[in-house]
Amino acid sequence: MPEFDATTASLEGTGRATRRELMTLLAADGRQTRALLAAADRVRAAVAGDEVHLRALIEFSSHCRRNCRYCGLRRDNGGLARYRMRPEEIRAAARAAADLGYRTVVLQSGEDAGCDIRQLAHVIGGIKRDREVAVTLAIGERSAEDYAVLRGAGADRFLLRVETSSPALYRRLHPDSEWRDRVRALTVLRRLGYQTGSGVMIGLPGQSLRTLADDLLLLQSLDLDMIGVGPFIPHPATPLAGARAGDLDLALRFIACLRMLCPAALIPATTALAARDPARGWERGLAAGADVLMPNVTPLCYRARYDIYAGKMWNSHAPADFRPRVDDLLARMGRRPGSGPGHSRIRRAVSTARGSEGTARAAVARGRSLRWKEQM
Ligand code: 5AD
Ligand code: SF4
Repeated sequence: MPEFDATTASLEGTGRATRRELMTLLAADGRQTRALLAAADRVRAAVAGDEVHLRALIEFSSHCRRNCRYCGLRRDNGGLARYRMRPEEIRAAARAAADLGYRTVVLQSGEDAGCDIRQLAHVIGGIKRDREVAVTLAIGERSAEDYAVLRGAGADRFLLRVETSSPALYRRLHPDSEWRDRVRALTVLRRLGYQTGSGVMIGLPGQSLRTLADDLLLLQSLDLDMIGVGPFIPHPATPLAGARAGDLDLALRFIACLRMLCPAALIPATTALAARDPARGWERGLAAGADVLMPNVTPLCYRARYDIYAGKMWNSHAPADFRPRVDDLLARMGRRPGSGPGHSRIRRAVSTARGSEGTARAAVARGRSLRWKEQM
């Protein structure tokens, strides 16, 4: 067997690979890429089955105090009309999503210094009372106390991308944040009992295949419930406007490796994949090992203003119009929407938290007794 195929077979069989082997897989040519993606799809089918978990994405605030060099929401982008949805608007969007059959809502925002955590906790509590949905947060770095309050209000999951495994590259891209703080925040979130997701961008300027192989190994070592990755896409109003976009095939190979390194993880075909290939990005992600989609249900009046990267508007459909398209896509691929809330396969015991802040304290205590690997 040629070396490439032997490495793929070994990763498929054992869930392990060295950095050098991963670099070989990430550098695959056309034929090899097809074999790699097919292997990942087999692992996905065996571990995750045909269900694709759908997460309804509500982008509730575009304010951000950070200045990440790649992102259109960075605070120095003065050309962006910012918005913050009112609590009742967020709840209404969540109810509408639940009524379309979504079992999870993802509340996403920039690092909004003006976001009142008590108010957000109240919104989460309201959503959980209104409908039986899981709530995922993607709101960036906050204090441990804030994370605990939100967990106590009923938030089930948290997404916080580490963006890269290289602290040096992280520093170049993030003038006002530290790689170690990110990784520490992930540890805090896991201790609080959140199902925790992280991820990286693929094709960042200054990133090499070696960095990407290390990204894969870091994501594997973090033992995550969810892992979201996507190609870097330059935004015209950022310092990286002139940089090359991340390669879609490379992103698909990365997803395929991830599926085999972390078989039980929930892995979305991300919006950035679809921004790179509006017609087939999601389908290609789902065929490369992904098992989650995150359709955007943000009210249309706000969509254009959540302007992280160019091409993000590939889905400008109203939530009700978009849901049947998602179902069609899954049916065409022989897949089906997840029947439950799509909680972590890794730690089903840590599931829905409801009720008071007392729950957060209990969650902290429970978190301590979990088998987290404290490695950072
Ligand atoms: N291209 C691709 N992904 C981006 N993100 C931010 N800016 C870009 C970009 N220009 C991703 C980051 C962030 C998430 C919300 O969006 O990974 O964590
Ligand atoms: Fe803000 Fe997140 Fe964009 Fe950074 S990546 S500027 S923290 S929204």
